[in-house]
Amino acid sequence: MSTSRPSIQSVELRGITKQFPGVLANDHISFDVRAGEIHALLGENGAGKSTLMKILYGLYKPDAGEILVNGAPIKMKSPTDAMRQGIGMVHQHFQLVPPFTVAENVALGLKSSRGALLDLDVVSKRLRDLEEQYGLRVDPHALVWQLAVGQQQRVEILKALYRDAALLILDEPTAVLTPQEVDELFVTLRKLTDTGHSLIFISHKLHEVMAISDRVTVLRDGRVVGTATTKATTQKELARMMVGRDVVTVWDKPASPSESVVLRVEKLSARNDKGLIAVKNLSLQVRANEILAIAGVSGNGQRELAETLAGMRRAQSGTVTVNGRDLTNRAPAEIIASQVAFIPEERMTMGVIRDFTVQENAILETHADAPLACRTFFDFGKIAAHASRLVREYDVKTPTLDTPVKALSGGNIQKLIMARELERRPKLLIAAQPTRGVDIGASEYIHKRLIEQRNQGTAILLISEDLDEVLALADRIAVMYEGEIVGIVAPNTPVDELGLMMAGAKRMATS
Ligand SMILES: Nc1ncnc2c1ncn2[C@@H]1O[C@H](COP(=O)(O)OP(=O)(O)OP(=O)(O)O)[C@@H](O)[C@H]1O
Ligand SMILES: [Mg+2]
Repeated sequence: MSTSRPSIQSVELRGITKQFPGVLANDHISFDVRAGEIHALLGENGAGKSTLMKILYGLYKPDAGEILVNGAPIKMKSPTDAMRQGIGMVHQHFQLVPPFTVAENVALGLKSSRGALLDLDVVSKRLRDLEEQYGLRVDPHALVWQLAVGQQQRVEILKALYRDAALLILDEPTAVLTPQEVDELFVTLRKLTDTGHSLIFISHKLHEVMAISDRVTVLRDGRVVGTATTKATTQKELARMMVGRDVVTVWDKPASPSESVVLRVEKLSARNDKGLIAVKNLSLQVRANEILAIAGVSGNGQRELAETLAGMRRAQSGTVTVNGRDLTNRAPAEIIASQVAFIPEERMTMGVIRDFTVQENAILETHADAPLACRTFFDFGKIAAHASRLVREYDVKTPTLDTPVKALSGGNIQKLIMARELERRPKLLIAAQPTRGVDIGASEYIHKRLIEQRNQGTAILLISEDLDEVLALADRIAVMYEGEIVGIVAPNTPVDELGLMMAGAKRMATS
């Protein structure tokens, strides 16, 4: 085990080009990072950010271009080469081994002085030092599957630091974090730069980029649009660089006249995966032409609520009715057939089948209905035409309809799920974190579609941690805390007040 950290004065990418079948993901990209700097990488979904970082980390081989570390050209043939140079990466989707402990995960792949046995005591001790130095609290003996997402991320960061990473690549680290966890992460990132580490930070949230970075590089369609000094730029300018135009954040919504209740939840209780009560005796109603937003810090039962409504989790007590029909504990298929659509938070595992093509995913759930099928036969011509219309209308960036969904970028997968669900013209739409990990252009588009859907009469239950999103879309806001609705308020409620309710410090009479 080495004790001295490799020092990195600069890392430079020159003319990096990478072609995937049908997509030029990186087109002569030049980019550099200096010691002690946080360099943010911005760009729409599919712009090529993760690809560029995987090239730097030795996971992909570029078709052209070179990587220089401290001025010397280096061939990154594998992550081992990258780590040898002091480059570490925390991926968009974590790569931990769930049944192993934190210490075991960190030690995995490292050489041990005791031969095959891992020096877990040594690992634990060094982890405690790193934890103290950088504020990365996590129990070395805890099993990874039992950790919350934010803690798993800390394990990934610790794993890289343990290997003496001097440059750390963080691919959308905040997409999975609560606002409080983001604050904690930022404290850690500042401590890292204070000790000479360099960071590459990818995020779709402009306010985060403004808050944490020293410089920002914007990518669009695989090319660099420009690099700016954060202090000398604005959110508006960055948005324009990313999307090529101004972005709408305030929506005009006609008043919602409808009184007819579509979703009625009465005294609903449900348990989480650990068997604890996560939704407590919760009641709410959503009317036609209405967006009711559930605001709250994640982990307060929102996810269990959504899954219970969608028939994917058992209600312990209480009832769920949609348009007067009792759907409590019915099978998902029956709920779907009652014109309920669900955009799940866990889109990679619940929203799509990763190995299926774009086309196949576009017809999941609807595949047995006319006009796509007639008796037992699929009409492949119609399926292709349907999928190609969805891809076009919802601007899903994919090389072909036969591309497996796992090759699409996160935001494009979300747009595909959205297209499929909205296309069913649901009476009730449950949308959980619909724009998480989605770029601002696509977020704007998804917001526009949700409002259109509301105006056409759909009742929408929006579950979001993003307060800007909640305030922009909601007709009413229900704040959820520890499994309960602690208040239902109007969308003009001051943010501070919402914040207090979200933290459980304030309770309002519910209506
Ligand atoms: N392994 C792969 N095989 C084929 N195409 C790929 C692969 N990885 C990425 N692509 C394509 O390359 C392009 C760039 O993808 P990349 O994941 O780098 O985008 P991104 O900027 O990270 O997007 P996001 O913000 O959604 O994460 C996309 O069109 C994507 O579909
Ligand atoms: Mg990415």
